[in-house]
Order: sequence, then C-alpha cells, then structure tokens
Amino acid sequence: MQYDSNHALLSTSIPEIGEPKRGKVRDVYDLGDTLLFVATDRISAFDCIMPNGIPGKGRILTQLSLNWFKLLTGLKNHLVTADVKAYPAALQKYAADLEGRSMIVRKLKMLPVECIVRGYLTCSGWESYQKSGKVCGIPLRAGYVNADKLDEPIFTPTTKEESGHDMAITAAELATRIGQKLTDALQNASISLYKQAADFARTRGIIIADTKFEFGVDESGDLVLGDEVLTPDSSRFWPVDSYKPGKNPPSLDKQFVRDWLDSIHFNHQPPAPVLPPEIVAKTQEKYESALAQLKA
Ligand SMILES: Nc1ncnc2c1ncn2[C@@H]1O[C@H](COP(=O)(O)OP(=O)(O)OP(=O)(O)O)[C@@H](O)[C@H]1O
Ligand SMILES: [Mg+2]
Repeated sequence: MQYDSNHALLSTSIPEIGEPKRGKVRDVYDLGDTLLFVATDRISAFDCIMPNGIPGKGRILTQLSLNWFKLLTGLKNHLVTADVKAYPAALQKYAADLEGRSMIVRKLKMLPVECIVRGYLTCSGWESYQKSGKVCGIPLRAGYVNADKLDEPIFTPTTKEESGHDMAITAAELATRIGQKLTDALQNASISLYKQAADFARTRGIIIADTKFEFGVDESGDLVLGDEVLTPDSSRFWPVDSYKPGKNPPSLDKQFVRDWLDSIHFNHQPPAPVLPPEIVAKTQEKYESALAQLKA
C-alpha cells in the first residue's frame, strides 16, 4: 500500500490476489466471479491523475455509493458486500486498509457508454446551449440562463474510450452501436435513477446538477447498475442555499479542483501539478460535507 506524506492512499498492492486493473481512482482486483473494488484517495481532473491524493476520499466515495445502492430502487446493482469480515481469507490481513473504502461487486459485462444525465444547464452544456441552443444534439427551448434547472432532465451519453477523452454521442448514435432496445433501457434507467436521487438530495439541501452512471449486463441478461454511483467525482453537487440561476454556484465536488487548475493555466496534459495543501484541505472538506448531508 502506498500512501503520500499526507496519508492519502495512492495505490494498493495485494500480491495474494494478483495485479489490479488500475483506473484513475479505483484499483480493481479479479476474484473470479466477483471483483474487489478499492477506491484509493487518488483524484483526477481533465482525465489526468494528480500526483498527490485527498486523504479519506476513497472512503467517502465508497460510503456514498453504498448509500445510493441502499436508497435507489427499480434496478439491480452490482454490490455483493462491503463487510470486510465477509471477504476471502487472503484479504483479511489488509482489513485496515480496505475497511470503508472497498466493496466486492459482481463482475458485469460493462456497456461501453457513460450515461450522463443533466438536470441543470452548466459548464460545457451551458456553453454549447449559448452557441447552438442545443446540448449534445438535443434542442432546448430558448430563455435559459446559466445554471438554470432544465424543464426535464436530459440524457447525454458519451463513448467510453480506452485512452483519451470520451466523446459525446446522441441517443440515436448510441442506438446504432448497441441497439435501440438497450439504448432506451439505459436512457430510462438513467433518468429514473437521477430523478430519485435528485429528489432525495434536495431534502438534504443538495442539488444534483448532473451525474454519470455506468451499467453492465449480468449472466441472466439483465441491466445492472455498476461502478460508483452519485459521488462528487461523478456528479455536480450544489448547496441549495447558495444556488442562484444566472451564476455559477459554489460546488461540493471536483469543480473546485478544476477551477484551481484553470487558474494556474494547467494545459490538461500530464504531468499534473501537485495540489497545494489548502486545495487538498478544501477539497477534503467539500467531499466530507457531501457525504454528511447525503447519508441516509
Ligand atoms: N461490476 C463491474 N464489472 C466490471 N467492471 C466494472 C464494474 N463496475 C465498474 N467497472 C469498471 O471498473 C473501472 C473502475 O475504475 P475507475 O472508476 O477508477 O476507472 P476510470 O478511471 O473511470 O476508468 P475508465 O476510464 O475505464 O472508466 C471502470 O473502468 C468501470 O467501467
Ligand atoms: Mg470511473
């Protein structure tokens, strides 16, 4: 296990079960029919991993996903267990590192699409609307201002690229890749999950401006919600209190890190700069506050 000087977990190593597949944030170990999903404290922005981590971030992400798996209904999800005592014997000596930041999940055939749902108009969506009146090919009515709530949430999928940036595609383009039936199922599931979550979050003082889901198919051919769910890494969270249409709301998510990177003119190419202590501390505070407010 590799920690940085701030005690953020940067990388895991469990030789007993082999080498993990390392994503930007998660280390994923193959356990046969299941996967051990470990959320590290790594943070990425603009598809680049920062050299230092946010202490405790992996635990916050895992606790939030578990929270949503408990709350959201209407679809299977991939969670098997997050109880470390129930993990295979070979993992027990790593219990302290795995506790709170890991889960065992069913291995799914993941669909190569990021299912983005936007309930509000912001950032790239707002820019595109100003230019063309559309977001990812979807025409919207005139008259919206920055950060406005959309009349209805929209589904704006992207491809999932092995390397490089994901690409926005329309639902029609998605249908030519994976079929109309599956596209409709993804769209309906994504919108329904977003609405359930947004309604709940609102009661906790948080607006979920947008989010990204990933789905897979299980051995019986059913659509299953996978990956992480409705975390500050995969969503935009805005405190209701400071929300005002027309201006960019302060957020409880990664936008803060992106804004800092933009302020120092980071060119979005690795190597990324080290995040200074005050940016680490503030990010940690935002993630913690999202969990505290959303915990059921
Ligand atoms: N149940 C599942 N079965 C198989 N793979 C899964 C499952 N749930 C999530 N995944 C995949 O595991 C990886 C999680 O790691 P992480 O989120 O760190 O990756 P990432 O940096 O987002 O990488 P990627 O660009 O591949 O999504 C993702 O590639 C995700 O698609
Ligand atoms: Mg991911």
